[in-house]
Amino acid sequence: MEEYGVYALLGVSTLLGLGLLNRHFNGGVNVHKPSQEGKLIVITGANAGLGYVAAEELAKSGARVILACRDEARGQAAVNKIKEKTLSQHVEYMNLDLDDLDSVAAFNKAFRAKGYKKIDTLMMNAGIMALPTRETSKQGFEKQFGVNHIGHFLLATLLFDKVKAAPEGRIIVTSSNAHKRWTKTINWDDMGWEKTYNGFQAYSMSKLSNVYFTRQLAKKLEEKGIDNVKVVSLHPGVVRTELGRYMMTGWKWFMMSPIIPLFFLCSKPVWYGAQTQLHCALCPFAELENGKYYSDCAVKAETLNDNWEEEAKKLWDYSENAVKKW
Ligand SMILES: NC(=O)c1ccc[n+]([C@@H]2O[C@H](COP(=O)([O-])OP(=O)(O)OC[C@H]3O[C@@H](n4cnc5c(N)ncnc54)[C@H](OP(=O)(O)O)[C@@H]3O)[C@@H](O)[C@H]2O)c1
Repeated sequence: MEEYGVYALLGVSTLLGLGLLNRHFNGGVNVHKPSQEGKLIVITGANAGLGYVAAEELAKSGARVILACRDEARGQAAVNKIKEKTLSQHVEYMNLDLDDLDSVAAFNKAFRAKGYKKIDTLMMNAGIMALPTRETSKQGFEKQFGVNHIGHFLLATLLFDKVKAAPEGRIIVTSSNAHKRWTKTINWDDMGWEKTYNGFQAYSMSKLSNVYFTRQLAKKLEEKGIDNVKVVSLHPGVVRTELGRYMMTGWKWFMMSPIIPLFFLCSKPVWYGAQTQLHCALCPFAELENGKYYSDCAVKAETLNDNWEEEAKKLWDYSENAVKKW
């Protein structure tokens, strides 16, 4: 009998320990809940994952939310679901395919045609990861660099005046800790990854580009004395979303199956994953630190090269040149 008691105690302690560990990995939670009535928020890739949760939470807080998505059926389904759950009528779908700069330009035109005067928060969230074979975007960029960085670069450039028209404009860029993982630099000699392709390295470079974009834009804002716009980047954590859809196919799922319980223990459910971008959208403007990198609802240091400032400037010039036709 006593033996059973020991086993029961061991079982309960293990469950409690695992629960605490899991809570630890879920990370920080946004504590700011100001009403967003009268605010307009644009979120890219908002039909799924982190973008969807952010859209739902921000709609709940009273904001008008535009879900900028590449697929009308998925985008509209997300809008309907948010309207049903939040009872907000200020939620809308607009088409945006970041893989195609013509589509980004069309989004800008369509947005202006709606007559909105300002964008309070532009959340550049959409992303793709670790494509197993090299693919290119419509205009020929390596696809992850094209979608995750170049498409967003053009979007921010075209919509900047609208963000500047907001009293407290925010640009929130979803980067990743992957910015420091598989490559620590921009692949200047082979920007399109044509010589050797590795999906993780290309993803890493696209996320480093997000950090560089943020740093460089913050610098420009400061140089120009624009203090009503701030830009930040962030890492949401390792989150259970559809992001791994390209890397976890067929036999790879089978190979990974032994570590799946560990993955579940150490990764965040999507609601927790969205907390850092919600923190950046909802914390008092004065507290948001321009140009900084956030993780778990707090500023964290990125891991950057010694010559990052030079690289960030070079990437800005490269990107500006790449999108100048639009
Ligand atoms: N999940 C993580 O562990 C993690 C960690 C670090 C960083 N991140 C970053 O978090 C962001 C959101 O990812 P997630 O985890 O929420 O992944 P997700 O569930 O796969 O959602 C990605 C979203 O991006 C959209 N998207 C993909 N390509 C697009 C394009 N060409 N044009 C417009 N939208 C496009 C997707 O639309 P479709 O449904 O139409 O494909 C989807 O709505 C990404 O930038 C990712 O790099 C995620």
